[in-house]
Amino acid sequence: MAVRPVLRMGDPLLLQRAQEVEAFGTPELETLLTDMADTMAALDGAGLAAPQIGVSLRIVIFGVKHNARYPDAEEVPYTVLVNPLIRPIGRKTEDGWEGCLSVPGMRGLVPRYRHINYQGYDQFGGRIDRDVSDFHARVVQHECDHLDGILYPLRIKDLRNFGYSEVLFPGEDLGDE
Ligand code: NI
Repeated sequence: MAVRPVLRMGDPLLLQRAQEVEAFGTPELETLLTDMADTMAALDGAGLAAPQIGVSLRIVIFGVKHNARYPDAEEVPYTVLVNPLIRPIGRKTEDGWEGCLSVPGMRGLVPRYRHINYQGYDQFGGRIDRDVSDFHARVVQHECDHLDGILYPLRIKDLRNFGYSEVLFPGEDLGDE
């Protein structure tokens, strides 16, 4: 078990485009994914991208069990997604509140595509191809943005909808996602 420190906004590595993974099923990849899973679990996150622990590779993990913090959110199966490609299905977008382990204590209102297709690989090189909507689609778009150096505050349309979680949502235990 290795919980790694999460880089915070301001670190230049979070603004870089991450590199494609070229070798699957390697011990190095397995170790990295274990560290990512341990880190995400320790911080009670919904997802984590490799650059957030200082590794500039195109890897994200995500997954949400039913959780009091997201009472309206559907469950998202735990997924390892390598070299992802996202395509919107239709043009419908929806605003939703997001947080990020790299922007602790904050929340912002971010527009995301409501329906997307995402493709990529698991850690063994098996293909993943899913059509998803709503919260699942939001989590994937947020995590994959990290691979292109985009943090969610860059997508907030009106910065009045950006602030401290405990001020925006007093009394709610929102964590940092
Ligand atoms: Ni994030």
